[in-house]
Amino acid sequence: MTVQFPALPFANDALEPHISRATMETHHGKHHKAYVDNTNALITGTPLADASLEDIVRASAGRKSTAALFNNAAQAWNHAFFWKSLRPTGGEPRGAVKAAIERSFKTFDRFTSAFATASMEHFGSGWAWALLDGEKIKIATTSNAVTPIVRGKTPLLVLDLWEHAYYLDYRNKRADYVWAFLTSLANWAFAEENLRTASNLKLAAE
Ligand SMILES: [Fe+2]
Repeated sequence: MTVQFPALPFANDALEPHISRATMETHHGKHHKAYVDNTNALITGTPLADASLEDIVRASAGRKSTAALFNNAAQAWNHAFFWKSLRPTGGEPRGAVKAAIERSFKTFDRFTSAFATASMEHFGSGWAWALLDGEKIKIATTSNAVTPIVRGKTPLLVLDLWEHAYYLDYRNKRADYVWAFLTSLANWAFAEENLRTASNLKLAAE
């Protein structure tokens, strides 16, 4: 078994005008695919050959000797999570996610403002995450391929901050790309699904 290259959960042009078909064709079809292909090449003939992508990410984290595998596998995982974090008609969170955001940030506007600031202040390539931390939601950014799953955190939603994610459509205007995500593309239904899964796991462990 090899790591699978997942299809997009929407058409290449479904996020237009915010993210173009050209960006999606390159970002998903070239960048994401290369991370998956590189991961498969690096695990062939090793004890990780049949492991799940999550297990490969965790097993290769934090060691110089497996840095190339970690970078490719973590990027494969992050991108698969990113596509699910987007949808053609974004909107505002509801239900349990809305309640968790209001517990943590008082209002959704304050959350979006904090998420935008963190995304803008992040230097270089990386990711902006909404994470579950106990009963609350936190915002964090990670550099390059780093993913919160190796730190035992539960991601709810992510935004790709690599230039390959927005340069064709927004050039150097990262702020406009971040704002398009927050106002038009964020898939809060996916965040709610992740929140529910985390709550069920917690209940099962108690
Ligand atoms: Fe990317």
